[in-house]
Amino acid sequence: MKSLVSVRDLSKEQVKNILDLARSFKGGERAVVEGSVALLFFEPSTRTRISFEKACRELGLDTFNILGDNSSIVKGESFFDTLKTFEALGFKGVVFRVPFVLFPYEDLVKDLNLSLINAGDGTHQHPTQGLIDVFTALEAYGDLKGRKVLYVGDISHSRVFRSGVYLFSIFGAKVSVCGPRTLIPRDIGALGVKEVFDSVDEGIEWADLVIWLRLQRERQRENFIPSERSYFEQFGLTKERHKKLRGFFMHPGPVNREVDIAGEILYSEKSLVLEQVKNGLFVRMAVLRWCLE
Ligand code: CP
Repeated sequence: MKSLVSVRDLSKEQVKNILDLARSFKGGERAVVEGSVALLFFEPSTRTRISFEKACRELGLDTFNILGDNSSIVKGESFFDTLKTFEALGFKGVVFRVPFVLFPYEDLVKDLNLSLINAGDGTHQHPTQGLIDVFTALEAYGDLKGRKVLYVGDISHSRVFRSGVYLFSIFGAKVSVCGPRTLIPRDIGALGVKEVFDSVDEGIEWADLVIWLRLQRERQRENFIPSERSYFEQFGLTKERHKKLRGFFMHPGPVNREVDIAGEILYSEKSLVLEQVKNGLFVRMAVLRWCLE
């Protein structure tokens, strides 16, 4: 039994094992994993929650949903005591999405006799989304060594970026970012990013793959941009910029049309957005199998 709270705990070998497993599930292989899993979602989600639930069903796991205000956390119970409750009830794993950063987490994991799987914690990590993005990029490009990957948008508040930058780097890709300076973390160099583009047009010219991110309004405590309209003009994927892309583009979703990406080209031939969603099922099946076996 293993936990997955941060991708930074995974070696390249372990990432490859998970992605190989996802590939075999996508190819039609099936596996049975016994036990019960709780899906504890304290933040809204469409694709992560539903694909985790579908993945559990595909593997034959008993699945229980605990959403938002329906848990005793609203009565003051701590997150740790909630997890101990699931442990006492014999759950094998808990998939969690929470608005806070779960760090440090090593002691918490050690004190639990169940598998903890992170489906997004605050601005910290979104391991399965990072794995999906690398899996999808590997399918599209074959090899990522030396490939140039550009993340555009709200880098500061993005847990998807923090998981992705590590995973793309271990496959040898060069990761750069672009966005308003107000939304670029001060410690961006420490995260493994060598270059920050102020101009998305220059970034697009540099990149083989561009990943647009949503403005994480729910995590922004102040106004970081003058308006969504000016943001789209400066950093969004417009129809004109779309013509200049020499590779594919991705977005982890949910997309804000005409803020991140022009609606008209969201599902164009250069888009991997729906491939990311499809791959979500297989990557989450692989993570569940890897953690729970
Ligand atoms: N990418 C992602 O986490 O989407 P949801 O919020 O819909 O789960």
